Amino acid sequence: MDYGLGGKTVLVLASGSGLGKAAAGEFLKEGADVVLSGRGAEKLEAAVADLEKATGRIPRFRVCDITKAEDLKRLVAFAAEPEGGVDVLVNNAGGPPAGTFESFDDTVWTGAFELTLLSYVRAIREVLPHMKKRGWGRIVNSTSSSVREVIENLILSNTFRLGVIGLTKSLAVEFAPYGILVNAIGPGRFDTERIRSLDRSLAEKKGLSVEQVSAAALGRIPLGRYGDPEEYGRLAVFLGSGANTYITGQTVLADGGMTRAVP
Ligand SMILES: NC(=O)c1ccc[n+]([C@@H]2O[C@H](COP(=O)([O-])OP(=O)(O)OC[C@H]3O[C@@H](n4cnc5c(N)ncnc54)[C@H](OP(=O)(O)O)[C@@H]3O)[C@@H](O)[C@H]2O)c1
Repeated sequence: MDYGLGGKTVLVLASGSGLGKAAAGEFLKEGADVVLSGRGAEKLEAAVADLEKATGRIPRFRVCDITKAEDLKRLVAFAAEPEGGVDVLVNNAGGPPAGTFESFDDTVWTGAFELTLLSYVRAIREVLPHMKKRGWGRIVNSTSSSVREVIENLILSNTFRLGVIGLTKSLAVEFAPYGILVNAIGPGRFDTERIRSLDRSLAEKKGLSVEQVSAAALGRIPLGRYGDPEEYGRLAVFLGSGANTYITGQTVLADGGMTRAVP
């Protein structure tokens, strides 16, 4: 399939590791000019080296804390510089803290809002003029399978990611006249540091071993394994590419069949 990504500028947020990094790798394989971002230069430099080894191509990168509006402005300007615009935005973020309603005060709720929802709004605001000017754009908002079935001990994620789905659906309508398609991905359980740390947190809370928690999680996944981040990356590439010409406003779960809810 021709994804039509050669020469396109793709900005992937929170991409020094995990799902963001994997998505960046898949866009690189398709010939896109890819920009990585994250809070630490060292992690980003290591990611660039890994991705170069894996794909033979070198992404650009810039340090950016996505909870800071000014950082996002500078990041989008940096990404747009060589080709005069950003064609594809993959909105992604670190996960908010695990816990239940009674664990969190306003400060934590506000931080989770800024990280999980407001950063997406701000990044979209920055790339929108570029996409409008070109009459073409793809926005992929990464969320979680929790948008269909809430996850125990993750009240912040369960709450704010639904806002991203409302945003995605609304923007699909508002941006269609500009040639911009907007979709969301809901990952289930991919083998990344985030999932390992959630398993540790739940094990501690329940007085179980991490192995017991992981085994119970695997038991709920019909495909019988955690996802490989590259499998997530391939979905991001399709939704964020020129091969996707008619899908907008959708949320696609990538969860090995784990979610039982009917949309
Ligand atoms: N893995 C899964 O199966 C799964 C399932 C459902 C939902 N999710 C969600 O998907 C997102 C990515 O998951 P993941 O598994 O890839 O997590 P991860 O391995 O923990 O990676 C998260 C990345 O986000 C970056 N980051 C964190 N806070 C940031 C900030 N303020 N500004 C810029 N970058 C920031 C981190 O780098 P720095 O710390 O260097 O900034 C890191 O590279 C998370 O929100 C997670 O909750 C993941």
